Amino acid sequence: MGPDSSRRQVVVVGRMAVPRRLLPMMMPALAILLVAGGAGAQLSPGFYSSSCPTVDGVVRQAMSQAVMNNSRSGAAILRLFFHDCFVNGCDASLLLDDTPTTPGEKSAGANAGGSTFGFDLIDTIKTQVEAACPATVSCADILALAARDSVNLLGGPSWAVPLGRRDATFPNATGAATDLPGPDSDLDTLVSAFAAKGLTSRDLAALSGAHTVGMARCLSFRTRVYCDADVSATFAAQMRGACPSSGGDDAEAPLDALTPGEFDNGYYRSLVTGAGLLHSDQVLFSNGPLDSLVRIYSNNGEAFSADFAASMVRLGNVSPLTGSAGEIRINCRKVNS
Ligand code: HEM
Repeated sequence: MGPDSSRRQVVVVGRMAVPRRLLPMMMPALAILLVAGGAGAQLSPGFYSSSCPTVDGVVRQAMSQAVMNNSRSGAAILRLFFHDCFVNGCDASLLLDDTPTTPGEKSAGANAGGSTFGFDLIDTIKTQVEAACPATVSCADILALAARDSVNLLGGPSWAVPLGRRDATFPNATGAATDLPGPDSDLDTLVSAFAAKGLTSRDLAALSGAHTVGMARCLSFRTRVYCDADVSATFAAQMRGACPSSGGDDAEAPLDALTPGEFDNGYYRSLVTGAGLLHSDQVLFSNGPLDSLVRIYSNNGEAFSADFAASMVRLGNVSPLTGSAGEIRINCRKVNS
């Protein structure tokens, strides 16, 4: 081996090329950098500023049209983003259709039975983005932008969305069945499910505020309004009217009965009166560790908005594919052939 050869031998750690001979002494520092930088460190709001400067406007325009036609579509897209990010990270794996050989996430776990929708709207946006910038913007980034716009168009905050995600080449149907918490979850289960994705209980409290918009089916809140001890009697009676004790599983009620179509802090104002629609909502305010935060959000819409925006960025940082991992899907429903 010549005197120079060790200098030429480099090891790639994350995105850094490190000379092999320096690796042992640099290991502790590199470990800290990788962990601290972690998921999402390579995303940036300006990722498409030269390759597709119009993407923000195209997504915003399409979402604006969709929400004007039907405000529920905003809620649907916001939920899709959560369900995508919680299963294998924010990689648009949720958007892949089932194939004869590979079951997708759409028909698994909490997504089953058509519970999640809005896939057509993502297709529409993707078609428009492809027309503006072919094979450039990932489905995962389109979903992140559309979720941000949904919140803002319904009256909530806005934020700069870090971008640069790439799309998964396979779904994880098993993960969809195990990683998404259900409506009957207790607080410990929710905290653990969020911790498993690197999110805190503060993120849990803030992100659950997404339930300030949208609807739930009777199936999801029947036990809550018939059996829970900590439910407001008036609210339970009202909701039983919308949800029979048996049958009528698909009858719907707003998740935030106070201000159903508005992205505000009505959800938290409901929780403090025992009017959370899902059991998993009310556990955030049930003589537990998150009570004080819920009370703050219920009194201070600005505090909620700021925390929600910050937590959405953290949710969007869950295990993205970056660099040359994955692909830029042309059709969000199937991997490129
Ligand atoms: C904390 C754990 C969570 C649980 C257990 C949960 C559970 C649910 C359930 C059961 C529904 C109603 C589904 C149905 O009955 O068809 C729902 C709806 C919804 N969820 Fe969550 N969710 C959680 C967190 C989140 C988060 C973090 C977001 C977004 C950031 C979110 C956004 C939504 C939206 C917008 C809807 C309404 C969708 C529509 O109107 O179609 N959820 N959720």
